[in-house]
Amino acid sequence: MHTVTTERQLREQVRQWRESATPLAFVPTMGNLHAGHLQLVRHASSVAGRVVVSIFVNPLQFGPREDFASYPVTLEADQAALVQEGADLLFLPSLAEIYPHGTGATTVVEVPGLNAMLEGEHRPGHFNGVTTVVAKLFNLVQPDIAVFGEKDYQQLLLIRRMVADLCMPIRIDSVATVREPSGLAMSSRNSYLAGADRAIAPQLYQTLLDVQRVLEGGERDYAGVEQAAMQQLAEAGFQPEYVSVRRQADLALPGLADGQLIVLAAAVVGRARLIDNISISVA
Ligand code: PAF
Repeated sequence: MHTVTTERQLREQVRQWRESATPLAFVPTMGNLHAGHLQLVRHASSVAGRVVVSIFVNPLQFGPREDFASYPVTLEADQAALVQEGADLLFLPSLAEIYPHGTGATTVVEVPGLNAMLEGEHRPGHFNGVTTVVAKLFNLVQPDIAVFGEKDYQQLLLIRRMVADLCMPIRIDSVATVREPSGLAMSSRNSYLAGADRAIAPQLYQTLLDVQRVLEGGERDYAGVEQAAMQQLAEAGFQPEYVSVRRQADLALPGLADGQLIVLAAAVVGRARLIDNISISVA
């Protein structure tokens, strides 16, 4: 696996692959790779002849009181894991390479509406940071396919909307959430879980499974179900931020005729802010 750090090196490599018409799949990451990321890379390898992975901890998507400064960096282990998975190229840009005029003066890509609800409401500006950096990375890598995890479901929908709205010729593939045996969704932020918080964290997914059971059992009082789940999380030791039943297709509030739903949740335990979701089919 090659590692490149500049736009010039990246474009030169991609140009060579384009000449041989080899399909290229791209997995953008912020590093600290875990089994969830590696599943994305494996998917990318299964659908394209060449796989590019990026590692860039993007300051633009962190709020002022969030964990940008302490975000875990494990570059050597990440590189070893990517070699093992057969990735072809690692793009490891500097801050100046991505934001040559600084983060405060960059052109911003915004997906209105979707960027303001749920995660967007609790992390103002977060999704503008995500769509801006992903648009830049897409322009640099020029992939045929890009791969994202379903754990960040709202992010996945935003990227799909951005690609459609900006006519980017990129297929967006999604990969199911990889979980620990306890059910806890794999996340780089799980490394913040210490002591008793480790035992509490899996209750987030267990609560979502309870919501799924209740809704699949016929309950349609969504607000009541959300409130009960918030209470369940608080009693388990979380500071819950939201539990919300939404339409899978667009995250709008569901009506009684909507059958394909998703329940999304965010909750803080100790130093870790966790998010998760579960899809639900109701008749
Ligand atoms: O999901 C992530 O790790 C990040 O939001 C992404 C897509 C790499 C953009 O920085």
